[in-house]
Amino acid sequence: MSDDAKPTNESSTDAPADNAETYPIRLKGMVKRFNGVTVLDGINLDIRKGETMIIMGGSGCGKSTTLRCMIGSLVPEEGRVEMFGENIVGMAEDDLNRIRKRIGILFQSGALFNSMTLRENIALPLEEHTDLTPDVIDIMVTIKLELVGLREHGNKYPSVLSGGQKKRAGLARALALDPEILFYDEPSAGLDPVTSAEIDQLIIELSKRLGVTSVVVTHEMDSAFTIADRMCMLDKGRVMTIETREWFANVRDSTDELEHDQALIRQFLRGSPEGPLTDRKLSSGYAEDLLGDDRVSMAPRPAIQSSR
Ligand SMILES: Nc1ncnc2c1ncn2[C@@H]1O[C@H](COP(=O)(O)OP(=O)(O)OP(=O)(O)O)[C@@H](O)[C@H]1O
Ligand SMILES: [Mg+2]
Repeated sequence: MSDDAKPTNESSTDAPADNAETYPIRLKGMVKRFNGVTVLDGINLDIRKGETMIIMGGSGCGKSTTLRCMIGSLVPEEGRVEMFGENIVGMAEDDLNRIRKRIGILFQSGALFNSMTLRENIALPLEEHTDLTPDVIDIMVTIKLELVGLREHGNKYPSVLSGGQKKRAGLARALALDPEILFYDEPSAGLDPVTSAEIDQLIIELSKRLGVTSVVVTHEMDSAFTIADRMCMLDKGRVMTIETREWFANVRDSTDELEHDQALIRQFLRGSPEGPLTDRKLSSGYAEDLLGDDRVSMAPRPAIQSSR
């Protein structure tokens, strides 16, 4: 393996400046439990301004929970979630809403209101959160629709849109308030490969054109390697590795003998049927496994123990 594929210690070697301007999102020792079961076990993650960070890992490892703690829809039991330099853990609702105005979220379903046209859906956050006049809102809606390639479809209702169009529409709505950070949970889930690739291109374009910071939870490795600047691999509620896309590509493509963690990452990235993940699966319960089954991961399970 080449030198740049060797692991580095992110916190000691890779921090240009220790402030909110450089890192609009900083997770520090974040612990989340559900009914006493530890699901996130001390997450540390700094996300740089303008970068696209992929959060990946097997089903049930805590990706969506991490994202939901960042947007303030879940409150961690321990640790800090610093958004734009402010810890949002325990923050009053008014303050939280001030932070939320600065972020956009693309939910899996697009989360559009079916009784409203696309234009009305996109206008809604502008009407609710700004004092802009209707004609200015109208112009802004047109700009957002153009950005996502749906300008001709503004008067349609969500029910008549294709899956890919719904994603685009959801994105237009997430963009309504000109967010500084965009969160995506499985943006290409349920889309055919071509539509999925189009959404990837759109994410890249938005990041370039608008300079937004993007946090993307995804299972789709092709998509992850297309859009990522850096990638964060979660494993059993912990951060296993945070590295550049190139580092992960090197691990994926390496034919060398790798040490345990990297061999595990390689198997995950390749989706291979054999490797340390499979060995672990055989030697421990399904629910503790990185490639765990959704049905199993939804069942109660004991607190996470590190296998390392
Ligand atoms: N509201 C909740 N109450 C109880 N347990 C929960 C809740 N939300 C998530 N969990 C549990 O926390 C763990 C992590 O869930 P999470 O949804 O974050 O996983 P994920 O990595 O996003 O998985 P997937 O790839 O399947 O979407 C799972 O075991 C899940 O069952
Ligand atoms: Mg999820």
